[in-house]
Amino acid sequence: MPLKRVGVLISGRGSNLLALLDAARHGWLGAEVGVVISNVEAAPGLQHARAAGIPALFHDHRGRAREAFDRELLDSLRRHRVDWVCLAGFMRLLSPEFVSAYAGRIVNVHPSLLPAFPGRDAQRQALEHGVKLSGATVHLVDDGLDSGPIVMQEAVPVRDDDDVAALSARILEAEHRIYPRAVAALLAGGYRRLGRRLVLEARA
Ligand code: GRF
Repeated sequence: MPLKRVGVLISGRGSNLLALLDAARHGWLGAEVGVVISNVEAAPGLQHARAAGIPALFHDHRGRAREAFDRELLDSLRRHRVDWVCLAGFMRLLSPEFVSAYAGRIVNVHPSLLPAFPGRDAQRQALEHGVKLSGATVHLVDDGLDSGPIVMQEAVPVRDDDDVAALSARILEAEHRIYPRAVAALLAGGYRRLGRRLVLEARA
């Protein structure tokens, strides 16, 4: 069976992209990264993709209706024969049309233990709320904001002397551990849906 192909959407640094590329290079992602697309031209993640020899595209969302922009994304993903879409710091909400085009095959990583602290600045929200544990969540994307079924989570402690930067760095390490593992498990297809619950059966 040919390797599945994932497309990665980014807006910035691209450290989760690097974690996915690393897993693909070592052969345990169960997929190759077919294209990386950014809505920010200067995103460092685009350079990581180019350095890995992967097509790296810039799609400008500015001045475009969401639907038109998303259709352009879909065209590029299809042109690169992408089966699954990984969001890795992609700072745009996706239209229902996009989500249904890749229904159940869009994955995101979020820097909190969802459903706590969805949306922007999750690490700041966690600090301000005073939680003692936060972490990283990999989830499937639905039409809501960080609301889709949870695939994998890892908790990290919140320390008394944490600031946003320190907590974000600790959470980011957890993101890099679980994102590729969660994607590999999903691609291996070994999971059942029980309502909102995603029960993984295959070990990544
Ligand atoms: C990560 O914290 C991710 O959870 C959030 O945006 C950040 C992206 O970081 N959605 P990077 O671009 O992968 O380094």
